Amino acid sequence: MNPSPPSATLLLRWYRAHRRVLPWRAADRLDPYHVWLSEIMLQQTVVATVIPYFNRFIDRFPTIAALAQAPDDEVLGLWAGLGYYARARNLIACARAIAELGAFPATIEGLRALPGIGPYTAAAIGAIAFGLAVVPVDGNVERVTARVFAIDAPLPGAKPDIAAAALRLGDQAAAVRAPGDFVQALFDLGATICTPRNPSCLICPWQGSCAARARGIAADLPRRAPKAVRPVRLGTVYLLRDHAGMIGLRRRPPKGLLGGMFELPGTAWESVLPAQAPPTPAQWRDAGTIEHVFTHFRLFLHVKAATIASLPPPLAAAPIDAPLPSVMRKAVTAGLAALNRPC
Ligand code: ADE
Repeated sequence: MNPSPPSATLLLRWYRAHRRVLPWRAADRLDPYHVWLSEIMLQQTVVATVIPYFNRFIDRFPTIAALAQAPDDEVLGLWAGLGYYARARNLIACARAIAELGAFPATIEGLRALPGIGPYTAAAIGAIAFGLAVVPVDGNVERVTARVFAIDAPLPGAKPDIAAAALRLGDQAAAVRAPGDFVQALFDLGATICTPRNPSCLICPWQGSCAARARGIAADLPRRAPKAVRPVRLGTVYLLRDHAGMIGLRRRPPKGLLGGMFELPGTAWESVLPAQAPPTPAQWRDAGTIEHVFTHFRLFLHVKAATIASLPPPLAAAPIDAPLPSVMRKAVTAGLAALNRPC
């Protein structure tokens, strides 16, 4: 017999006393625009990183209509450093679709039809902004659920079982009356008490009804199948700085990894270092190698840097603090350090 779900009332009581103060929770009635923006930013990114980005976005674009009217480059610039740039392009497309509709759709189907909104995000916005009785399953909810029901099959295979069990968490009347608070309570419980390592079971509102705790295996769940190692890719990038102190950038193709973002010119990224001449003859200095981990591979980029009278076309001249994806920011920092070193 499956264990029965723990008490939603206990969790909600805990949430009201201990919830995290977060900028998208500022108002009494949550603004769907704020909820949507925070959920898109929180996909793949931790809360502490998201907060300053969220605040800058809301300062610059106080309404979704303002975001819908913004030039793409300004939005991509404000996103620079957050990663997963397809999210930013979908964000723009989604804001424009909502401006066209005139309002945020308030149903799961309506939300799912928008760019960049998958099943998890639709459920999160649906519950938090519109009070729909659904339970979005992110990493936190997955962990809490696997533990309270002691589901010990390994992820990712156990995902459907965990998702089905998570739905049972939201079945109780107390959760149904306040679905938005209930799911945010699950997020906060997972982030602050039911943490991946060393969960604080002694102060958990669900300690009395957690099957994993009863079996002494809370910290071991959810189990995971061993991860495949990330393949390595190699490349070279070239930092050119002109006499006015500007650096040469080019734009990446609109689709795919870091789509539409600016980057340093360089080689393709391959499993064997591609041989390719620098973009222009110059006194190239070796600026070392930077490392960046993407979802599907680990990248080592050799950085070369040179000073030049004027930047060759088709490079665009940009200030050294231009918004750049993190991998390119690392390469620019290494390149500038090499140029500033005495020969
Ligand atoms: N993780 C995903 N969505 C969240 C939210 N709304 N609040 C806190 N953490 C989250």
